[in-house]
Amino acid sequence: MIELSGIEKIYKVRNPDHRAWRRKSEESRFEELQALKGIDLKARKGEILGILGPNGAGKTTLMKIMAGLLIPEHGTGTVNGYDLFKERNKARTSVNLSRSGDWVIFDYKLSILHNLRYWGVVMGVPWKDLDSVIEEALTAVGLETKRNEYPENLSSGMRQKMSLARCLLSDRPIYLFDEPTANIDPISAKFIRDFAMSSLAGTGKTVIISTHNLWEAEMICDRIMIIDEGKKLVEGPTEQIKKTYGGEYALVRLSEVTDTLIFNLEALSFVEQALRMGETWERGDKQQLLKVTGDVKSNINELVVTIAIHNRLFNIEIKEPSLNDVFMKIVEGEE
Ligand SMILES: Nc1ncnc2c1ncn2[C@@H]1O[C@H](COP(=O)(O)OP(=O)(O)OP(=O)(O)O)[C@@H](O)[C@H]1O
Ligand SMILES: [Mg+2]
Repeated sequence: MIELSGIEKIYKVRNPDHRAWRRKSEESRFEELQALKGIDLKARKGEILGILGPNGAGKTTLMKIMAGLLIPEHGTGTVNGYDLFKERNKARTSVNLSRSGDWVIFDYKLSILHNLRYWGVVMGVPWKDLDSVIEEALTAVGLETKRNEYPENLSSGMRQKMSLARCLLSDRPIYLFDEPTANIDPISAKFIRDFAMSSLAGTGKTVIISTHNLWEAEMICDRIMIIDEGKKLVEGPTEQIKKTYGGEYALVRLSEVTDTLIFNLEALSFVEQALRMGETWERGDKQQLLKVTGDVKSNINELVVTIAIHNRLFNIEIKEPSLNDVFMKIVEGEE
C-alpha cells in the first residue's frame, strides 16, 4: 500500500544561457525544473496501478520517490505504512524497483548468476536461500539457460529481463516496474504481465507499472493514473475511466433514420444521444447510419427492438473505446 499527497519535485538544471555562468551566483547558474506539481496517489494491496503519460511527464521521478531514491520538496506519504520522510529506510526496503536501463548497475565482467548472487546478498537474501531464489527469479523472466552468460554479450531485451530478475530476488510487499516490457519480445512480455498479475498482485503485493503500451495497461491494470507535465489528469478504475472519457456507443445501419425514431430512442433511460451519421450504399441497399451513445451494451435487446419496430435494421455494432482513445483525448485535450 502506498499513499502520497501533494508530492512536488523540483530538479536543479544547468542554465543553458552561457552568460549566466560568468556570473558567480549559484542561483543564476541553475534553473529550477518542476517535474511533479502536487501528485496524490493511492496504490492498494493486490492491485496493479498503471501510471501513464507522455515522455517527460514525471513517471520515473514519481517511481524514484516511492522507492526512496529521491526526496520530494513538498508533500507527504506513506509506503507500506512507513512515513516517506521519517521512516525512510523501512519505506525503502518495502519496495522493489525495476527501471528500464537498470542493467548498468550490473558488473559486465561477471556472469548473470554471479551478478544476481552479488545483488541477492546486497538485498539481504539469506545465504541458504540464495541459489533457490535466483533460480526462481531466472525462471520467472525466462533466463534459465543464460545464467552463465555475461551482461555485455546480451541483447537489450535480455538485459531488461536480467534487471527484472534482480528485482524479484527479495520478497517485498511493493513492486514498482518502470516500463517493464520495453524492448521485450511479445512472448516474454506476456510472461512478465502474467507474472505481475498472478504471482505478484494475485498474492497480495502492491504493483505499480509505468508503460507506453496502452493496450498492455488496459489489459492488466485495475486502476490507471494519467499524468502530464507533472500534474495528474485522471485517476480511477480502468473500466470507469474508459466509460467516462471514451463512452461506448452503438453504430446502427438501418433503412431510414426518422425523427420519431430519434425521439423514441432518446426517451429510453439508458440512451444519452442518438445522432445521424450520414448514409452509405452496401450491396445495393441504401443504408443510413445512426450513432447511439449511452449504456448500450447491456441494453442491446431493448435497443434492437425499439429500432426494428418501424425500420429495417441491417446491422448493429457496439463500439467500446480503447484506453488509447481515452489517453489521446485526455492528453491532447490538455495541450
Ligand atoms: N536527474 C534529473 N535532473 C534534472 N531533470 C530531470 C532529471 N530526471 C528527470 N528530469 C526532468 O524531469 C521531467 C520528468 O522526467 P521523468 O524521467 O520523470 O519523465 P517520464 O514520465 O519518466 O518520461 P519517459 O516516458 O520519457 O520515461 C523531465 O522534464 C526531465 O527532463
Ligand atoms: Mg521514464
